[in-house]
Amino acid sequence: MIVVTGTGNIGRPLIESLVAAGQEVTAVSRRPTTLPDGARHASGDLADPAGLAPALEGADRMFLMAPDPTLPVAELVRTARSAGVERIVLLSSQRATSRGDDPFLAGLERTVTTEAPEWTVLRPGGFASNALLWAESVRSARTVRAPFGDVPLPPIDPADIAAAAAAALLEDAHLGRHYTLNGPEALTPRAQTAAIAAALGEDVRFVEQTREEAFAELSQFWPPAVVDRTLDALGTPTEDERTPSPDTALALGRSPRTFDDWVARHVGAFS
Ligand SMILES: NC(=O)c1ccc[n+]([C@@H]2O[C@H](COP(=O)([O-])OP(=O)(O)OC[C@H]3O[C@@H](n4cnc5c(N)ncnc54)[C@H](OP(=O)(O)O)[C@@H]3O)[C@@H](O)[C@H]2O)c1
Repeated sequence: MIVVTGTGNIGRPLIESLVAAGQEVTAVSRRPTTLPDGARHASGDLADPAGLAPALEGADRMFLMAPDPTLPVAELVRTARSAGVERIVLLSSQRATSRGDDPFLAGLERTVTTEAPEWTVLRPGGFASNALLWAESVRSARTVRAPFGDVPLPPIDPADIAAAAAAALLEDAHLGRHYTLNGPEALTPRAQTAAIAAALGEDVRFVEQTREEAFAELSQFWPPAVVDRTLDALGTPTEDERTPSPDTALALGRSPRTFDDWVARHVGAFS
């Protein structure tokens, strides 16, 4: 049985592809949610590893995401190992190493790579689905407000992260690998806005925010330190963060999907 933590941008397509591959899947999130036929949902909080033990019982593989730096990751991994989990595919981030070691992400990776007999670490850059932050203002005012309008980055489609995770859970070829995952081309926020406008067949205005305006907006969702690190990566990306990674095709066995492809599948969120 495979346990998948999270049922969002990555979790949902991952669960779908594992079920389609004939795997028994238990998906863990705090709130109940509808899942593809064939998957079981277990309500649980990653902050309470002991409470997850029943959901993990009988699992031999796990997709682990740790969306919050306060999570007790070492205890989570120990609980998974006690339940019988041998293989962990970890969702980390490109920021684990791209601008000096990030203490939380480096610790997360170290825990998994030392405790799990079989592991793969996925280090994605910025997700294409981050454009959903713009959905409400595109729907209501055909406007995108974002900082650093002319700084290009290669967004990764979360469905491709899910595909890389499924391959690492099901195939042995990816064991012991750290994969940096991003998209096939670097696009500025202005160019992403134009892609959304083209899919809608309507004009969408781009309004450049100052860093301070973006900080105030993103602080509604994330802690200040996370917002600062995110804005650093968006505004002054390193060479690695700006460049499509050759690892992505190795992890996927094909080229990554384009931002246009992601927009075509999510245009309903903007219309
Ligand atoms: N966005 C980016 O550019 C980016 C880049 C690199 C890495 N990442 C990483 O990617 C992850 C987000 O992936 P995503 O976009 O697929 O997520 P998402 O769509 O935001 O969904 C998060 C899922 O995790 C569940 N969840 C959150 N906290 C939980 C907890 N304490 N216990 C159990 N379940 C919990 C949520 O359900 P409930 O709320 O019901 O629990 C939801 O199903 C984060 O770890 C982030 O650090 C993101």
